[in-house]
Amino acid sequence: MNETTTTLPLPPGNLGLPIIGETISFLQDPDFADKRQEKYGSVFKTNIFGRPTVIMVGSDANRFLFANENKYFIATWPPSTRTLLGSGSLSMQLGDVHKSRRKILSQAFQPRVLASYGITMQEMTRRYFQQWEKMETFTWYPELRKYTFDVACKLLVGTDKVADSHLEELFEDWCNGLFTIPLRLPGTKFNRAFRSRQLLLQEIETIIRQRQQQPSSGQDALGLLLQAKNDEGNQLSIEELKDQILTLLFAGHETLTSAIASFCLQVAQHPDILSKIRTEQAQFDFSQPITFEDLKSMTYLEQVIKEVLRFVPPVGGGFREVIQTCEFQGYCIPKGWSVLYQISKTHQDQNIYSQPEQFDPDRFSPDRAEDQPKPFSWVPFGGGMRECLGKEFAKLEMKLFAALLARNYEWELLPEQNLDLILVPTPRPRDGLRVRFQVLKKPDGVFTPPGN
Ligand code: HEM
Repeated sequence: MNETTTTLPLPPGNLGLPIIGETISFLQDPDFADKRQEKYGSVFKTNIFGRPTVIMVGSDANRFLFANENKYFIATWPPSTRTLLGSGSLSMQLGDVHKSRRKILSQAFQPRVLASYGITMQEMTRRYFQQWEKMETFTWYPELRKYTFDVACKLLVGTDKVADSHLEELFEDWCNGLFTIPLRLPGTKFNRAFRSRQLLLQEIETIIRQRQQQPSSGQDALGLLLQAKNDEGNQLSIEELKDQILTLLFAGHETLTSAIASFCLQVAQHPDILSKIRTEQAQFDFSQPITFEDLKSMTYLEQVIKEVLRFVPPVGGGFREVIQTCEFQGYCIPKGWSVLYQISKTHQDQNIYSQPEQFDPDRFSPDRAEDQPKPFSWVPFGGGMRECLGKEFAKLEMKLFAALLARNYEWELLPEQNLDLILVPTPRPRDGLRVRFQVLKKPDGVFTPPGN
């Protein structure tokens, strides 16, 4: 910091009421940032979750924030999120501890390991499709949540059949408290979420203790954490292990459920896009499992998935704490304040994307590549040293799911349902996406057997 920085003006905006600031409108008004951006520009101040906060919109803001991690900014979350994640969570860890835990965990997401997840993911996906085929009409969102949770449990902690247990319901209550005012009063969302956290930790401890009995712990995330040593050469504490697994199970399914549901919704509403996906899929031998090489050559599907993550990013933005006063676009960003970078607003920026309000996978075709001119224009997974650890895992699961779905099934949105999105904690259609799900009839009337 130098003297010039501190004499610069603060960003425009309104700090709202004492303590509560503008938290209520932030949580309830989906146009909160739009309205202020219109009035004040792309950098403005507010007061949310008990702290003065600068909201920054756009690819330059993203770059500034990601490049200055640990210099001007450190990760932080609102008090409700911090309490529910726990101090041992990767998302809460800072500095060297964060670096060392990230290094350990990233081994569970290396290409070699991901390639070994591919077959299990496909088997599990096919099993869920067969169940849905029998159900025929149903509400998809809760089913998708079971599916992604089952996959996360199997591949990240090596546990089978967790989807049958009540863990998943506990997670739902826990998630609903993530962005709330942290009042531990009976009946509040936060209170319910806090109770769920305690029950989840008990269940996770049982899973960890069982794994500790097994001599070879394997290469999944839990196995790696069990073998890891901290700086003093000791094993990680059970308290940290529980928080780390809680974060991974949450991050490993909640965002993916939202992303996959958005794919299903958008593609159902754009039959032309579905037919282009099917044309691309037709070049593969459906009787063989999908390989990594196959996935790489599905370039149109890649564009569709990229557009889904642009259009409805599962994470709307991320918080940081300012640890050193700095300057951005002529404004002073004071130490002790929070900063919120905006994924969804960056993805709606007309300076980056043409007609951003339209769902158009061709914007990512090699000749248009609208996200390329400016770095950090497409940031569904964040960026820099806090970039999503599960990015490749998420893309793998989305792509396999989408390819198998388009090859073998048709799905139709049932009438009279509310498709408006609930945005917090992750976007999902208000009525949960009600569909009719059937095996795809080939044009000659021959059914494609499921699993082929
Ligand atoms: C479409 C799916 C997903 C999206 C959109 C997404 C998005 C994000 C974003 C935006 C961040 C960074 C937040 C920040 O800047 O503070 C993040 C961090 C993280 N994500 Fe994901 N994520 C997804 C799936 C996953 C999966 C499948 C896993 C695990 C298997 C995962 C694990 C994590 C972890 C552990 C972090 C914290 C990283 C750190 O602080 O170093 N995510 N994710």
